[in-house]
Amino acid sequence: MSAARAELQFERRANLRDCNTFGLPALASALVHLRSEEQVKRLVDHPEFGPAPKLILGGGSNLVLTRDVAAVVLKVEIMGRRLVAETPEAWIVEAGAGENWHELVAWTLQQGWPGLENLALIPGLVGAAPVQNIGAYGVELKDRFDSLDGVDLVTGRSVHLDAAQCAFGYRDSVFKHLLAGKTLITRVRLRLPKPWMPVLGYLELQRKVQDSGNATPDALTVFDWVCTIRRAKLPDPRHIGNAGSFFKNPVVSAEQCRDIIGRDPSVVHYPLPDGTAKLAAGWLIDACGWKGKTVGRAGVYERQALVLVNRGGAIGAEVMTLARAIQESVYGRFGIRLEPEPVIL
Ligand code: EPU
Repeated sequence: MSAARAELQFERRANLRDCNTFGLPALASALVHLRSEEQVKRLVDHPEFGPAPKLILGGGSNLVLTRDVAAVVLKVEIMGRRLVAETPEAWIVEAGAGENWHELVAWTLQQGWPGLENLALIPGLVGAAPVQNIGAYGVELKDRFDSLDGVDLVTGRSVHLDAAQCAFGYRDSVFKHLLAGKTLITRVRLRLPKPWMPVLGYLELQRKVQDSGNATPDALTVFDWVCTIRRAKLPDPRHIGNAGSFFKNPVVSAEQCRDIIGRDPSVVHYPLPDGTAKLAAGWLIDACGWKGKTVGRAGVYERQALVLVNRGGAIGAEVMTLARAIQESVYGRFGIRLEPEPVIL
């Protein structure tokens, strides 16, 4: 039987511990594996599950589960990747929402279609990439985005969204707001522009340029550099549970930034075109002495204070207790409220 025609399979009272990279336990009322767009539509028509609240789950790499989930969890496993078109300006590549993001990046490079190398090793699946507009080392998904397909979970209709309709922002999109839990992304198309130009503006890549003496790296070299940088400071969720950066980098007014620099001249900050400044949340947390600390079974990663980790057997409430303590101490010292980056449930 093809994936499309296969029966929908529901798992009742499913434990989600293995479905989130933080390794946090939680029970879902039901979990269903979705391997095709057609299966998604059949789910919407299903008398028992059609009207129930839904939680869309990809790789669970940007999720903090603090309680059981009174919803049907939709585990997206739609596969497939292909070159849709090649024009003088770009390669357009399409991938199923259930494809692993990093494997897609590696595959496009092997095929000779560069452009995603700065986004190497970001955990999670393709379908989650637009939701939080993943970004790293000077490139965001929106810079390589063409369009996506999905299914409206209320009407069962196919939807097609371009970049403007996705309303991408910093770690943000329409899928975190208006369409949250309402549209399931099935396929994503990426536009990899020609001619290829390396994006090397990020400080750590500049260091690689200097150390290697290679000012004109090819895309595979940039890919290797990004993998090395990430492996050195971000924990591999297969070994240490985590959800990547736990807080967004806060944006403050020019005045507030000057005030903080006056008190802490070494604060890491990036001026933005509109006069505001983005501060490095990792630096703020580090400056408050949190790096390497443990509270209960949750902790702050030794090599990057922006990443909270599961020290083994943690529950979501412990992670949130630690997160709140960090927020309070950063607010107490700098007057800045840090906002969590993953989805907290
Ligand atoms: N820093 C410290 N101490 C720390 C951590 C950071 O002093 O413990 C300083 C660093 O030295 C650096 C600055 O803070 O000067 C910024 O840190 P880093 O370069 O590690 O990047 P980031 O701002 O912490 C962001 C993204 C990452 C992305 C990197 C690279 C957010 C919330 N995080 O991290 O994305 O990989 O830039 O582009 O925007 C994610 O979203 O999960 C993620 C990992």
